[in-house]
Amino acid sequence: MTYSPARVRELLTRIAEPLRAAPASTELSALLARLDAFQQLPDERLDATTALEASGAPLGAMRAIPGPSRGLVGATANELKKLAEAELVAHAERAAQAALEAERNASDFDATLPAARVERGALHPIVAVTRELEDLFTSMGWTVLDGPEVETEHFNFDALNIQPDHPARETMDTFWVATPPGAPRLVMRTHTSPVQVRAMKRLKPPFRAIVPGKVFRNESVDASHEHTFHQMEGLVVGKNISVGHLIGAMKTLLRGIFGREIEIRLRPGYFPFVEPGFELDARCPFCKDGCSVCKRSTWIELLPCGMVHPNVLRAGGIDPEQWTGFAFGLGLSRLVMLRYSIDDIRHLLGGDVRFVSQF
Ligand code: FA5
Repeated sequence: MTYSPARVRELLTRIAEPLRAAPASTELSALLARLDAFQQLPDERLDATTALEASGAPLGAMRAIPGPSRGLVGATANELKKLAEAELVAHAERAAQAALEAERNASDFDATLPAARVERGALHPIVAVTRELEDLFTSMGWTVLDGPEVETEHFNFDALNIQPDHPARETMDTFWVATPPGAPRLVMRTHTSPVQVRAMKRLKPPFRAIVPGKVFRNESVDASHEHTFHQMEGLVVGKNISVGHLIGAMKTLLRGIFGREIEIRLRPGYFPFVEPGFELDARCPFCKDGCSVCKRSTWIELLPCGMVHPNVLRAGGIDPEQWTGFAFGLGLSRLVMLRYSIDDIRHLLGGDVRFVSQF
């Protein structure tokens, strides 16, 4: 059924007829007055937009319409609505077609000119590296997990064996979230480690998982420190998992990232949620004798790691007598900087198109 003002008036009459016969009420009189006003519009003002509005009047006042007429009025109003909507679409198509015709018929139209270039986006380097690492780990049977960025104090600290008075709470320069007095305290998570305990509660051992994600610290920002940056947690829980497994996994990770064998070394490192804990350094992939990236030492401090502390396994509902595990916390933003030779971490989330369009 094609649109015409006459057709709209006909439908409006069909809507109004049973209403006029019904017992009067204030709402009904108001609705009828509105329908009459639409009826009386001149043809040129009864366009598809107005017709759509007219269909809305009875549909919006359904409760005022007496029961016996409601079905008929509703169906007719819907018919009017569909007619108006179809006309609006057809109108837009006609306008686009007319604009195209006008462009083609213009005296300066040249069909041989190349089409306008479509700008193509690209993945942000953090997303690109995250996806690469996810591919690498899932190909080895690891699971990719996610966790909340606003975290409870319990998961961010307590369950990770970080005591209430432990300086680690301060060293992580926490952003606390305002909560009502007495409610559990919330933080912007300071690391991806809380997902370790969430994973233990959700998955049955043995399991292997990585958790890439954003973390937040209230610290002074400089070329290598951001308040918002990315980490990637790794966690393996199984039978007889040892430091040997940890070293093997870390070497595979580095081979995946740099495309060749990279020498590593472990130094003792302290984190309350691992025992023993290590700082893992990688031999600088960019030089042999020292460069600015490795600060002339030929080693790059890459990721803290260690064997999961029995208290953390317990907090996750896992028996430390039966199961052991290792965990690591890769500084993803710093790795992205290494990978693409980015000299200032602030470029990563700075939102400058000149920066991101280079990738
Ligand atoms: C942690 O956050 C521990 N959760 C890591 C961990 C996991 C240890 C599992 C043991 C087992 P740390 O505070 O050192 O540790 O941070 C880990 C990495 O995040 C650092 O090595 C560094 O690469 C990166 N990082 C830390 N602070 C910043 C910052 N302000 N800006 C950018 N990267 C940072």
